[in-house]
Amino acid sequence: MTSTASTTRLDIRKLTARIGAEVTGAGPELDLAPPDVTALRAALNEHKALVFRDVSLDDEGQQRFARYFGELTTAHPTVPAVAGAPSVLPVDNERGKANHWHTDVTFVLNPPQASTLRSITIPPYGGETLIANAAAAYRDLPVPLRDFADTLWAVHTNDFDYAVPKESLDDAERERKREQEAIFTSIRYETVHPVVRVHPLTGERGLFIGGFARRIVGLPDGESRDILRLLQAYVTRPENVLRWSWEPGQLVLFDNRITQHYAIDNYDDLPRRLNRVTVAGDIPVGADGKESYSIRGDASHYSPAPGARAA
Ligand SMILES: [Fe+2]
Repeated sequence: MTSTASTTRLDIRKLTARIGAEVTGAGPELDLAPPDVTALRAALNEHKALVFRDVSLDDEGQQRFARYFGELTTAHPTVPAVAGAPSVLPVDNERGKANHWHTDVTFVLNPPQASTLRSITIPPYGGETLIANAAAAYRDLPVPLRDFADTLWAVHTNDFDYAVPKESLDDAERERKREQEAIFTSIRYETVHPVVRVHPLTGERGLFIGGFARRIVGLPDGESRDILRLLQAYVTRPENVLRWSWEPGQLVLFDNRITQHYAIDNYDDLPRRLNRVTVAGDIPVGADGKESYSIRGDASHYSPAPGARAA
């Protein structure tokens, strides 16, 4: 499947039926002309995740590429950036493993609209990233469940338990993990988002939940968990998931408004390092036209004010 834009030199080919496409013809530095950016935005809207092989980018190059899609966030609301690159977040297994399904930084009012990951050090086996199409998940819901989900709102917070059971850690690991959690939660955020988000560019509806969604507004914890688990099972259906096996020198761009992702912990603690740069996003809007709202935590140091972003 080739891009239909006649003025772009890019070739865009699907990787699976429901999610993911590979982009070729962009060159190792991903230096893009305006028609290329238009073609990539259209491809991102359609495929949700775009992969580029054989890129040759440094931190500045990755930031320049992400800026084609809008103003950047800083690296993270609470986790420090790479030295000298204020919008680059090190994603390093030394600092913890994101082996849980999530959408990036949904605990703030306007989470990033898109994320880029660039591979630097990749283990000889494993370490794949799973990316799921949350719009396909929504379409898979039986109509009564879809109608029900349209009415729900969920509280997202960064104050959550990581998946690794504490008993399995030795003392040094437990201490390191405690320090990382203290940094991650040094500002506590709580934001209420619609469970079904309407994509501002396409009008497409997608499930907007993931690991930071802790409870459904108005429901007790037990019922909240059961409903989130039920909906999440549609997101993580194998048909909705791209499994990307990294090699060094690759870049993946995904639409953080309508996907979830998961870093598989299957590489025996070998070194794994990616750098992440995210593009500032808008305030989510639900099926009823209402916007998300913040309960606690100011993220103005992290993301430009909603509405100030580029198109
Ligand atoms: Fe992530």
